Amino acid sequence: MHLTKIRLFDFRNFREAEVEFSGGLNVFYGDNAQGKTNLLEAIHFLCNLRPVRTTREQDLIAWDKTKAYLKGVFYTSSGPVDRELLLKAGDRKKVRECGVERHRLSELYWQIHAVFFSPDDLTLVKGRPSERRRFLDLIIARLKPQYGRYLSEYSRALFQRNRLLKDLRRNRTLITALDAWDEQLSSLGAAILRTRAAFTEKLFPLVRKYYLYFSREEREIDIRYAGSMVLADVPAESLREVFLAALRESLPRDLESGYTQVGPHRDDLQFLLGGRDLRYFGSQGQQRTLSLSLKFAERRIFFEATGVYPILLLDDALSELDVNRRRWILEGEEPCQVFVTTADLSAIPGDILKKGRVYRIRAGTVG
Ligand SMILES: Nc1ncnc2c1ncn2[C@@H]1O[C@H](COP(=O)(O)OP(=O)(O)OP(=O)(O)O)[C@@H](O)[C@H]1O
Ligand SMILES: [Mg+2]
Repeated sequence: MHLTKIRLFDFRNFREAEVEFSGGLNVFYGDNAQGKTNLLEAIHFLCNLRPVRTTREQDLIAWDKTKAYLKGVFYTSSGPVDRELLLKAGDRKKVRECGVERHRLSELYWQIHAVFFSPDDLTLVKGRPSERRRFLDLIIARLKPQYGRYLSEYSRALFQRNRLLKDLRRNRTLITALDAWDEQLSSLGAAILRTRAAFTEKLFPLVRKYYLYFSREEREIDIRYAGSMVLADVPAESLREVFLAALRESLPRDLESGYTQVGPHRDDLQFLLGGRDLRYFGSQGQQRTLSLSLKFAERRIFFEATGVYPILLLDDALSELDVNRRRWILEGEEPCQVFVTTADLSAIPGDILKKGRVYRIRAGTVG
């Protein structure tokens, strides 16, 4: 699977552009603030239907405009697939695939996926637990649409329970309503925990493998799902009861804080090297390597699920890696379409650069 062509209208600083790509390496080269990252972002948006990180979709529309349009043509195992996205100020985005408007992710061609990596992904390691939950949740929801539904129903129930906790301070008789929310939270929460457990079982060994490779360290990292409840040795079928009991137990604390303190919405991932948490004690280099390993593990998971490697988008990432690792990524054993941005072409080994296509990005134009 790869992107053969893209068209942009009024997307960020691109007024109008049409570009054809190589199925291998594509390099976006140019000075600062010309549009290299914006072009990667356009590709990401077409593939994954959401902006990179937490940017609001509306921010993608060129500042002086009210609409933006993107079209991509993908080469896939079932022939060409074209996908169009239309953003309009104050409206929901419209997605069309092969000319037909699609309302749900599950209606779209599922092999198309991109993995984006930039130095900002350090927040995956250093940032708040919500960043790591988001990383897990987005991948799982992509692979299992059902999981996305659990998540949204769970957060609705959580919102209601939290509201009730606050109301209870004024009116204790409302306590009878709590049971219903606890029931709902625990069954949805158990489904979330079960799905996450099955997923992390696949993810963690991959992260460890890539970390070992990228870091060249002798030591393996130890990765843990750091739950807000102790769940070790709890069989899957008992998760619901254990969670329900934990909710009841935490009620005094919950009432005090007005917030539900246990559950998958409080969980985290922990990365340990020699017993120490890399979030607090890792060097910048170790943290960066770890965030890169997480992204490569994501990529591999998609490969295992769909049989094709996702498109790899590397934003300013090469300067952080030594030559061997650059080589491995750009021409490695895991072939796929790669897009990289750089202000400095010498960051790419000459023989690899020769095989790729170089695009000069200047003030929202592609040369
Ligand atoms: N919605 C928008 N409309 C118009 N221009 C925008 C919009 N959003 C961002 N820009 C501008 O687009 C320009 C290019 O941004 P981009 O991040 O793509 O630069 P870059 O080439 O990646 O630069 P660098 O090498 O510094 O990372 C910036 O000047 C930015 O302010
Ligand atoms: Mg940039």
